[in-house]
This record gives sequence, structure tokens and C-alpha cells, in this order.
Amino acid sequence: MLNLLKHPFLTHKLTRLRRKETDTKDFRRTLGEIAGLMAYEITRDLPLKDITIETPLGKCHTQELARDVVLIPILRAGLGMVEGISNLMPSARIGHLGMYRDHETLQPKTYYSKFPDNLPDAIVMVLDPMLATGGSSSAAIQILKDHGARTIKLVCVVGAPEGIDKIMKDHPDVQIYLAGLDEKLNHNGYIVPGLGDAGDRLFGTK
Ligand code: PRP
Ligand code: URA
Repeated sequence: MLNLLKHPFLTHKLTRLRRKETDTKDFRRTLGEIAGLMAYEITRDLPLKDITIETPLGKCHTQELARDVVLIPILRAGLGMVEGISNLMPSARIGHLGMYRDHETLQPKTYYSKFPDNLPDAIVMVLDPMLATGGSSSAAIQILKDHGARTIKLVCVVGAPEGIDKIMKDHPDVQIYLAGLDEKLNHNGYIVPGLGDAGDRLFGTK
């Protein structure tokens, strides 16, 4: 299911991220801020369990989070979302998945993976600012399922209809979260109007 998040701060910051004048320093900071704002919404349905604790004045019947959260940034650009989200959940464990799109075929190539061992029991959040053809995110989700993940949320910043359709078809069980839904892909598979190449803008590699 698609969850298109709406908040004036998100809209304002996404505009800054999209601007071609935004330099690497501001791009990095703004992507982190957007991820932090999104974190609040994407965690809204985290399950709680009942517990009883002692306050300085007596017993308190209350609740705490029932399941671990694991963050999986897709390298490179997903790295720019980790800090903003983990600020809200500092004990979340973090796995890494290295992928790049072949420029000719647009097919994802996996070059690195390292996951914590609690994937089967955790709520797994896949982080990548761009959902273009959906090839990278769909492959990432499949790899995580093959490693036992059962509850997966896909957290992207900007998405194209093609990518959303692919995830809904390949992984109908996965919740998709976006801050912006754009019009289309161009002939190179870039989101239009989008924000350009997220990895290059985040790390200043072009
Ligand atoms: C970008 C982006 C996604 C992917 C999206 O990564 O961060 O991972 O493309 O495209 P898709 O939905 O069509 O698969 P890229 O391949 O440019 O790698 P990079 O982050 O290392 O630059
Ligand atoms: N990857 C990006 O970084 N940007 C796009 O628009 C599409 C894929």
C-alpha cells in the first residue's frame, strides 16, 4: 500500500532538496531532516506490549515497543536517511545493502550485503530516497525476505508511478512511504521532475 506523507515541513524541505542550486552540504542536511520527519509517520503503527514498571511513586501499568526495528539503507543514497531516522530509535540495528543500477539496462547489481541476525522478528525499514523503476527496491526487498524478514516497510523520498506499481505487484505485503509522488521517468530512468542523481548530490561525486 502507498502512504504519501503530507506535512508543510516535508513539502518545504523537499522543495529545497529538488532545487538544482542546493549544494552537497545542504542536500545532505535536508535529506536527513526529511527522513527524520518521515520517521514519525512510518513508526505510527509500531506494536506495543503491556508492562508494569515502578515510578518513584509506585506501580505504573504502561507499554513499551514490542518489536525491534532494523534499518537497511540501500547504498549509496540510503545512507543519507539513516541518521535522521535512527535519532528517533537509537537502538535500531542497521544492515547495509550495496546496489547500483546498470546504466544501460537499469537492472540493479548487488555488490555488498551485511544484515543483523534479528531480521525474522524485526520490523525492517528499507531506506532509499529514490523509487524510480522500482528495480533496486524490489530486489532489496526480495533479498531481505530470503534472509527471513517478514515485516518490511519501504521508505523513499520521491517516487514515480512505475516504481510504485512494481513494488505493489512484486511485494503487495510491503507498505510504501513517500514524501513526493512525481509524474514519470525519463528515457534514462530518472524521475521527472525528481531531484537528479541522489547519490551524486549527497556525496558530491558529480
Ligand atoms: C539510485 C537510487 C536507487 C536507484 C533507484 O541508486 O538511490 O537505489 O537508483 O532506481 P530504480 O528504482 O530504477 O532501481 P544508484 O543506482 O544511482 O546508485 P548510487 O546510490 O550508488 O549512486
Ligand atoms: N536514481 C536517482 O538517483 N535518481 C533518479 O531520478 C532515479 C534513480
